[in-house]
Amino acid sequence: MSTYVVVGLQWGDEGKGKITDVLAEKSDYVVRYQGGNNAGHTVYAGEDKFVLHLLPSGVLQCKGKCIIGNGVVIDPEAFFDEIEQIEKRGLSTDHVFISSRAHIIMPYHILLDTYREEFAGKGQIGTTKRGIGPCYEDKVARVGIRAIDLLNPGILRAKIEENLLVKNALFEKLFNKEPIRFEDIFQKYQEFGQRLKKRIIDSEFELNYAIQQDNNVLFEGAQALMLDIDFGTYPYVTSSSPTTGGVTVGAGVPPTSLQNLIGVSKAYCTRVGNGPFPTELEGETEEHIRKTGYEYGASTGRPRRCGWLDLVALRYACMINGITHLVITKLDVLSGFDKIRICTAYETQEGKIIDAFPAITDELSGYKAIYKELNGWKENISTIKSFEELPKTAQDYLHFIEDYLGIEVYLVSVGPERSQNIIKTHLS
Ligand code: IMP
Repeated sequence: MSTYVVVGLQWGDEGKGKITDVLAEKSDYVVRYQGGNNAGHTVYAGEDKFVLHLLPSGVLQCKGKCIIGNGVVIDPEAFFDEIEQIEKRGLSTDHVFISSRAHIIMPYHILLDTYREEFAGKGQIGTTKRGIGPCYEDKVARVGIRAIDLLNPGILRAKIEENLLVKNALFEKLFNKEPIRFEDIFQKYQEFGQRLKKRIIDSEFELNYAIQQDNNVLFEGAQALMLDIDFGTYPYVTSSSPTTGGVTVGAGVPPTSLQNLIGVSKAYCTRVGNGPFPTELEGETEEHIRKTGYEYGASTGRPRRCGWLDLVALRYACMINGITHLVITKLDVLSGFDKIRICTAYETQEGKIIDAFPAITDELSGYKAIYKELNGWKENISTIKSFEELPKTAQDYLHFIEDYLGIEVYLVSVGPERSQNIIKTHLS
């Protein structure tokens, strides 16, 4: 048996699809365990391009089953859009299942997300406005609607009525907006339930059995550690746990079943949305990285904020996740710089040097990044196939990261294509 968990170690968009793509091909199961359609990944099957937000990025490569776990929040409209996108090209989606326990994003969640951000003005989080946070809130408040509830009209009716009472009061009295009408959603979501019926399963049983039977199971994280609800730059975070630990509660498998814990980091940093970002660049250097790396949000198209690699944040991310294998993506984007900077510590406003990632987000905004400057390389490295062929300075850059983190690099990506991967070490 082999289980693989792939997680992002920064602020999302690390290019996790690069590695899940490789692993999905030999997986019997590909599983998503948190987040919703706030994620975004572009997947290719032959010449065909697919933009997916909710389905696991391994959905097309996986020859076995593809599962959206209980920890995911599901917008049925987004789900059907993606299913149609795939089926329209003549490919089957019969292998896609969703957990009976997964929570459903309702229209009032999307409106709440939008109105709240408007209401917050400058204090807004910069969410994707897909209703993710409000749906998780309802889950924790124990008033959420789960996939299984869509199949029971009595329960669905009672839950929608109960929710609209509170949500409409907020819409009308606080946000000064129109209420949502029960009739506009009840029938629609009941029909969604009927369309989803054949895909709704108790996935925790299926997955535990699959692991016991020595299947290869791949768990795909969305977003990343710095957006984690507990360990990220709170409150500028998403509402789930995109960590290796998140797999246990988001898919219902025990920690002892998780083996290869693969963390993905870009060779530099990016962030969409608001919140502190100690190594953020500005001016020409940032623009160069944004243009070369095509750093625009896959879900919302927003330009990503760009900065040098932050090893303080990365070491913290590896610690929380217990990373066993490291993937560095987009190394090719750094080609052409005379000098490359890499953050090894922070200086606080009082002049103290620290190398542990702080819990107080406001303090982090006032920290200055302390850099080690390394020599860059001029060569185009996008066709290189082995670590030894990389320019010496690019090798030094990777060795510096490995030494700081105490973790070996397993794969380096040097371009968007599937073939543009350098395998440095092997997985167990
Ligand atoms: P939410 O997940 O829509 O609530 O947004 C909360 C924060 O997470 C915002 O800063 C978003 O930009 C960020 N975020 C959510 N999903 C992703 C992602 O897939 N990549 C990068 N950032 C994300």
